[in-house]
Amino acid sequence: MTKSTQPSPKDPFASDHSRASLKWGSWRRLLALLIGGLWAITFITKLSKTLRNDFPPLTTICEQPSPAGSPSNLSDFVNEPGFALAAAKRLAGAVKIPTMSFDDMGPVDKDERWAPFEVMHKYLRNTFPLTHSTLNLTVIGGYSLVYTWPGSTTNAKPLMLTGHIDVVPSLTALDRWTYPPFSGTIDEEWIYGRGAGDCKNNVIGIMTAVEHLIRSSWKPARTIVLAFGQDEEISGPRGATNIGIHLEEIYGKNGIAMIVDEGGMNLDTIYGKEFALPGIAEKGYLNVEVQVDMLGGHSSIPSPHTSIGILSKIVSAIEDSTIFQPHLERKSPIWGYLSCVAAHGDSSKVPSWIRKGVSSKEPDMDDIAERFAKTSVNNRYLVQTSKAATIFHAGLKSNALPESARVLFNSRVDIFSSPAKTKEAYLSLVKPVAEKYSLLLDGVSLSDAPSIGNISILPNLGHEPSPISPFAIDSDAWLVFSKAVQAAFGSEVVTAPSAMTGNTDTRYYWNLSENIYRWSPTRAGTKLNIHTVDEKIKIATHVEGIKFYTELILKSDAQLEST
Ligand SMILES: *[C@@H]1O[C@H](CO)[C@@H](O)[C@H](O)[C@H]1NC(C)=O
Ligand SMILES: *[C@@H]1O[C@H](CO)[C@@H](O)[C@H](O)[C@H]1NC(C)=O
Ligand SMILES: *[C@@H]1O[C@H](CO)[C@@H](O)[C@H](O)[C@H]1NC(C)=O
Ligand SMILES: *[C@@H]1O[C@H](CO)[C@@H](O)[C@H](O)[C@H]1NC(C)=O
Ligand SMILES: [Zn+2]
Repeated sequence: MTKSTQPSPKDPFASDHSRASLKWGSWRRLLALLIGGLWAITFITKLSKTLRNDFPPLTTICEQPSPAGSPSNLSDFVNEPGFALAAAKRLAGAVKIPTMSFDDMGPVDKDERWAPFEVMHKYLRNTFPLTHSTLNLTVIGGYSLVYTWPGSTTNAKPLMLTGHIDVVPSLTALDRWTYPPFSGTIDEEWIYGRGAGDCKNNVIGIMTAVEHLIRSSWKPARTIVLAFGQDEEISGPRGATNIGIHLEEIYGKNGIAMIVDEGGMNLDTIYGKEFALPGIAEKGYLNVEVQVDMLGGHSSIPSPHTSIGILSKIVSAIEDSTIFQPHLERKSPIWGYLSCVAAHGDSSKVPSWIRKGVSSKEPDMDDIAERFAKTSVNNRYLVQTSKAATIFHAGLKSNALPESARVLFNSRVDIFSSPAKTKEAYLSLVKPVAEKYSLLLDGVSLSDAPSIGNISILPNLGHEPSPISPFAIDSDAWLVFSKAVQAAFGSEVVTAPSAMTGNTDTRYYWNLSENIYRWSPTRAGTKLNIHTVDEKIKIATHVEGIKFYTELILKSDAQLEST
C-alpha cells in the first residue's frame, strides 16, 4: 500500500483502490460535469435572452458623443455685435416675399401665383452673393433650387441640407395678426410673419452659414448639396419629387451621406433635461374614399334609408371604432426616445412607467404605448395610425333622395403599418353595414336579400411609411448630428430619436440616403403659430439655428477627415 493509495482525509469521496470506488469517482465527476454543463447552458440562454430583450441596451441606445462636440471658432461669427439684427433682417426680407402655395397651383409658366418665387430667387442672389458665385445652382421644377458646393474629396458622399421656400397662404383672418403676415416685422425679440418659422428660417439659416464659411475661405472636403423645394406645403409635386429624381440620377441609391430637413420636435426640456429631438422616421399616408350609390326618388315616398343615412352609419362606425391602436416596437423611434428620457432625465421626474418599462426584460409594449399615447394628442399620433373624416359630399335638392354620398377619410399610417393594412381596417367596418343593409361592397354581395345599392371604396392616394434612420452612436451620421447639436446648443444637450405626425419633402428622398434627420434647430416655445395667425420666431433662435447649420457642415466634414 503506498501513500498515494491511502484515502485522503480531505477527500471523503476518494476511497480505497477498489474498482467500485474508482468507478464511483468518475461517475461523480461526470455528474458534476453534466450538472455544471446544464447550468452553464441555462445561464447562457438566460443571459442571451436578457441581452436580446434589452437590445440595444439603454446605455448604447442613448450614448452621447464623448468628448462632446465642441464649437469651432468658425461659428463664432454669430456672437459678433450686430450679427443678430442683420440675420433677423435677412430672414424678414425673405418673409416679405409672399411665396404662397395653393392646392390648385397651375403650371409654372401659366399660373401667375408663381411670380413671387421669381422675386425670392432674386432676393437670395442679392443676399448671398458669395454662395451664388461659388456654388453651382440648378433650378428644378420651375422654382426649386439645388445648390452644389463641390468638395475636394470626390469619393465622399455629400451632405444634403434642405428646406422649402413656399409657405401656406395667409389671406384670411388678417385682422387677427399683430402685424400683416408679409410685413416681416421685427421687434426686440421676434421676427413675425408667414414663413418666419416654416421654414424660411431654415433656408435663410442654411444659406447664411454657407455664405459665412465661404467668406472665411473655408472649403469643404465633402460635397454639400442644398435643396429647397417650391411646393412642400402642397406635397411637393413639382419641387421635391423632381429634386429626388435629379439627385438620384447624379448620386445614385444611398448616394448621400446624410440629409437634414425641417421637422422634428424641437429642442425641449423633458423631465429636467434638454433633448434635441429629430424625427428619424415619417408616417405613411392614405386617403380612403367611400361612396354610397342608391336609387334616388321623391322625398315624399322615401325608402327607409338614403345614401346619406347609409354613409352616416359608416362614418359613425369608423369614428367610434378603435381600429387603430397605439403601437410600439423596440425599433420604434419612440422606444428609443423613452429609453433616452429614462437614461438621461432627472430620475425623480421621470415617471415610473417609463423607467420600469424600458428597463424591463419583458415590457408590456401595448401598455407603454397606451400610456405614452395618453400624455398628449400629439404624442398619441407619433405611435398610432390616425383617422379623420375630412371631406363629405351628399345631396342636391330638398325634395330628392340623394343618389350618391361620398366621404373622404385621411389617415397618417403608423410606421409599422402600411396603407394596405390601413385600408383593410376601414373595410372591416364598412362590411357589416353593407351586409346589414344589403348593399353590394365593391360589386360583391354580402347578404341574401336583394341589394338596394352599392358601396365602393374608391382608389386613392397613399404612400408607405418611411424607413427608420439609425439612432445609435455607431452610426457616423447620427454621431455627426449629435456633435453638431452639442456644439451649437451646449455639451449637456442629449440628442434622442423622435418621430413626426406628418410628412416633409423628405418622403421623396428615401432613396437618396439611409440617414435622414428631420429637425428644425429651434428651442420649444421660441417658434410659434406655424400655419396660423401670428407666426413668429425669436431672433435668438434664428441665430442659434445658423450656428447649428455651420457646425453641422464642419462636423460632417471633420468626420470625413477622421475616417
Ligand atoms: C481657429 O482655430 C484654428 C484651430 O482650430 C486656428 O488655427 C485658427 O487660427 C483659429 N482662428 C481664429 C480666427 O481664431
Ligand atoms: C456645375 O454646373 C455646370 C453647368 O450646369 C455643370 O457642367 C457642372 O458639372 C456642375 N458641377 C457640379 C460640381 O455640379
Ligand atoms: C350598383 O352596381 C351595379 C353593378 O355592379 C349596377 O348595375 C347598379 O346599377 C348599381 N346600382 C346603383 C344604385 O348605382
Ligand atoms: C426609389 O427607388 C425605387 C426602386 O428603385 C423606385 O421604384 C422608386 O420610384 C424610387 N422612389 C422615389 C421617390 O424616387
Ligand atoms: Zn415646412
